[in-house]
Amino acid sequence: MRISNVLKTALAPLVAFASAQTIEQTLTAALPAGKAYNLSTLQSLITESSLGKDEFTRVGGLLGGGTVFAPTDASFAATVALNGGNPIPFVAQVLLYHISTKLVDTAYLQANKLSFIPTLLGNNSLASVPSQVIKVEANLPNVTVSGLIPVEVIDTIVASNGVIHVVDGVLLPPSNVSTILTNLNALNDATLSFKQLASALDSQNLTTIVNTASPITIFAPTDSAFFAVANAVPAATLTKMLKSVLTYHVIGDAVAYQPSSGSYKTLQGESITVVNSGGSIKINGSNASFLSSGAIVVLSNGVVHVIDTVLVPPTIAASLGSNTLAPASPSGTTKAPAAGASSTGAAAPPTAKPGNAARSVAGTAAGILGAVAAAVLVLA
Ligand SMILES: *[C@@H]1O[C@H](CO)[C@@H](O)[C@H](O)[C@H]1NC(C)=O
Ligand SMILES: *[C@@H]1O[C@H](CO)[C@@H](O)[C@H](O)[C@H]1NC(C)=O
Ligand SMILES: *[C@@H]1O[C@H](CO)[C@@H](O)[C@H](O)[C@H]1NC(C)=O
Ligand SMILES: *[C@@H]1O[C@H](CO)[C@@H](O)[C@H](O)[C@H]1NC(C)=O
Ligand SMILES: *[C@@H]1O[C@H](CO)[C@@H](O)[C@H](O)[C@H]1NC(C)=O
Ligand SMILES: *[C@@H]1O[C@H](CO)[C@@H](O)[C@H](O)[C@H]1NC(C)=O
Ligand SMILES: *[C@@H]1O[C@H](CO)[C@@H](O)[C@H](O)[C@H]1NC(C)=O
Repeated sequence: MRISNVLKTALAPLVAFASAQTIEQTLTAALPAGKAYNLSTLQSLITESSLGKDEFTRVGGLLGGGTVFAPTDASFAATVALNGGNPIPFVAQVLLYHISTKLVDTAYLQANKLSFIPTLLGNNSLASVPSQVIKVEANLPNVTVSGLIPVEVIDTIVASNGVIHVVDGVLLPPSNVSTILTNLNALNDATLSFKQLASALDSQNLTTIVNTASPITIFAPTDSAFFAVANAVPAATLTKMLKSVLTYHVIGDAVAYQPSSGSYKTLQGESITVVNSGGSIKINGSNASFLSSGAIVVLSNGVVHVIDTVLVPPTIAASLGSNTLAPASPSGTTKAPAAGASSTGAAAPPTAKPGNAARSVAGTAAGILGAVAAAVLVLA
């Protein structure tokens, strides 16, 4: 998805230059000379697609400011190539996913290292309820924005009525959790492997629920977290408690992108207590930690937070004598997969590190465009 590193290093770091023109004028006029990218594909999509142009005009005009993420020509070309040379499906909807009525300018990025901004893509267009969000991670001068996959801001143009962030990839709308887990598992990255979770959800007939319930927040323990449970709890016990354990990882009535401290009722019925100290998030009572902001994945129906521990509901914990199961030791712990989970031949549990591999949550090329089609079909 990324433009070549060569091009990337040739680009100046995020330097905003102010334009006297509106967002729409800037995007429909010739770019200033000397830019190391072109926006002609986006420009022609805006002019060709009445939906696109209307929405760009609305952001700039009616709403008095906003943000447009503008993929370069190379980004569009890469996405078309991923799609076997075919046009990007549902391109008007994909364009709407690049527009926000929220002003994400430099001041905003300085104040918000991690944020989730609504876009015009939703089932109710401008009312934007529910609207699809984009994750924005600012580590200035670097800014990463993620839909289904992360892309980087390579230039910023301040327009008279908002801001344009030029990005090195097309922002693809998010998908459901099955697709995300499948794509991550296909990467075979040991620190971000969810084969146990995926098959455990299947075995308990919960996959459809987590894919369709909305809004939803899912805490996703890594494989190594599941291996720790398999080592600590007899398989028969585990099988019996699996459905309760899994549903205890789901908040079924809210999207908590950045959960504030407090108590959240889970689908299992009991609550989890979140302790958020300055963005470092733990689940009180279990000591489970959220992994880095890179391991927060937006879904079409909510959000996934990757965690390093399997959460055990208090009532079950009482019977087991513990409500957390410490991370697996680095070696010799591949004893058994989680009960009910098929043996997927997962690699030995890694010494899980937050890492930023979720940045490559892109997954397989094949999955991406199918996921876009599925996501926008649901939203259309
Ligand atoms: C932008 O487009 C112009 C005109 O087609 C071309 O001459 C130029 O090389 C392009 N620049 C980049 C960085 O692709
Ligand atoms: C659109 O949103 C409304 C309310 O938020 C919801 O009831 C409805 O099912 C949604 N429609 C689709 C097609 O997602
Ligand atoms: C920004 O990204 C560049 C290239 O990946 C990296 O070398 C640099 O350390 C990053 N800066 C910050 C503040 O993260
Ligand atoms: C899952 O659904 C199948 C088919 O309806 C059923 O046979 C099976 O018992 C269910 N499993 C669980 C754990 O609920
Ligand atoms: C964790 O939970 C316990 C019991 O509910 C409570 O007493 C304690 O204050 C909580 N700790 C934090 C840091 O919220
Ligand atoms: C959580 O961590 C604290 C401090 O390390 C420890 O005393 C406590 O037993 C842990 N709680 C659980 C449930 O593992
Ligand atoms: C989840 O997404 C995949 C592909 O992206 C799609 O095939 C599947 O139908 C979706 N599941 C649900 C329940 O929406």
